Amino acid sequence: MRRNEEMKLGLYLVPTGYHESAWRDPSAPANGGVDIDHYGLLAALAERAAFHFVFCADTPSVVERDHASIARVGRNDGFEPITLLSALSSRTQDIGLVATATTTYNQPYHLARMFASLDHLSRGRAAWNIVTSGFKSEAPNFGEKELPDHDTRYARAREFVEVVKGLWDTWEDDAFIRDKQEGIFVDTTKLHLLNHKGGHLSVRGPLNIARSPQGYPVLVQAGASEAGIEFAAEVGEVVFTAEPSLENGKRYYATLKEKARALGRDDNQVLVMPGIVPIVGSTKQEASEKLQRLQSYTHIDVLFERADYWLGFVTDLRSMNLDATVPEALPQTNLIQSRQKLLLDLAVRQKLTWRQLIRLISDSKGHLMVVGTPDEIVNVMVDTFDQRAADGFNVLPPTVPGGLKDFVELVVPELRRRGKFRSGYFGQTLRENLGLRRPLNRFTRTKCKR
Ligand SMILES: Cc1cc2nc3c(=O)[nH]c(=O)nc-3n(C[C@H](O)[C@H](O)[C@H](O)COP(=O)(O)O)c2cc1C
Repeated sequence: MRRNEEMKLGLYLVPTGYHESAWRDPSAPANGGVDIDHYGLLAALAERAAFHFVFCADTPSVVERDHASIARVGRNDGFEPITLLSALSSRTQDIGLVATATTTYNQPYHLARMFASLDHLSRGRAAWNIVTSGFKSEAPNFGEKELPDHDTRYARAREFVEVVKGLWDTWEDDAFIRDKQEGIFVDTTKLHLLNHKGGHLSVRGPLNIARSPQGYPVLVQAGASEAGIEFAAEVGEVVFTAEPSLENGKRYYATLKEKARALGRDDNQVLVMPGIVPIVGSTKQEASEKLQRLQSYTHIDVLFERADYWLGFVTDLRSMNLDATVPEALPQTNLIQSRQKLLLDLAVRQKLTWRQLIRLISDSKGHLMVVGTPDEIVNVMVDTFDQRAADGFNVLPPTVPGGLKDFVELVVPELRRRGKFRSGYFGQTLRENLGLRRPLNRFTRTKCKR
């Protein structure tokens, strides 16, 4: 089977940058999180460089637990993703729009409707990053004390996605005939009621919007625990990962594609996209100095809070000897299990002390970070792509717009020189640009078989 050969690139949209303290950088607009013109600029830079999509991450809560760290982080002032991407849909023409929405604290009817709307608004450029909620700060915002346990969240997610797909198939593609002469707006023989009653959800339908340009907006997933990988292999068309090790990345890539094939899917239709934090300099020294400057902005309270959070709130880092090496195991978290494991594996492999691990979490949160010249960054990207640890990358600029400009002006041209990246959009929809097939409506499919 031929591999979908072109490297894919997505831009992780962040208010001021992926680095924890980017908002303090002199080049970053500190109010970027609520400035649509700022996001318009980022999307324009990415679109001019022919990125496949921009991606807006989300958690519907303030994650930090104390005022000391809330006071010093720049992320708790930002747009809700579907709202933001709806606005960006009218400021862009070609670039894909990936919004995060949780299956734990939403209703499928709402999300099916919002994503179908975004797909119509953007003329076929919408995608849904399906998450199961990994932060316990979310629960009390929705009337609960704790997150449901990890397996229960994935069980609901599975049912949720089936329901959403069912709602998106409410209308066959040609149901809305809008015949003014006859006075018939829609052909109701092409209307299908879902009538879903399952373990977690009960949804009758029908959905009150026509099937959208892509049939289903592109489905994105980032599960990396055992349950998460199963889910990603079942539903993910784009799969986000965090993986700094080439060997582990190759293993993850092979496992996911194998699982997708075992489920009867074409593994060309499952694109693995790890994150990369590129710190670009004209020399390695200059790039290192950029990173050191960002590090110098980060307060100790933020360092501890971030590390506690990404390790799943199972340690009290303030009571640790920071110069001791990180142990091989910690109590398992009910939060983001795979990230806890990834960070621990990395610390053990590199024999990191707590101090070093805490710093690394603040810099990259466990994603692949490359500090160097455009050539050095491209070497890593091409190697990761050629060795089948990635079909492309989610680019996480340390600062925006500065770090993004460095990437599009210096790294993208080098990728092109090496024949690894395109120079324009060849399709109308995000599916076409990613080489993903448009799903047939299940009812049309059944009719075709008859
Ligand atoms: C690039 C990337 C982006 C992610 N974005 C979000 C997000 O916006 N919101 C969220 O709750 N989780 C996000 N996650 C976390 C995943 O949804 C998932 O919870 C995580 O990968 C761990 O999966 P696991 O529960 O299977 O261990 C993201 C993960 C990655 C790798």
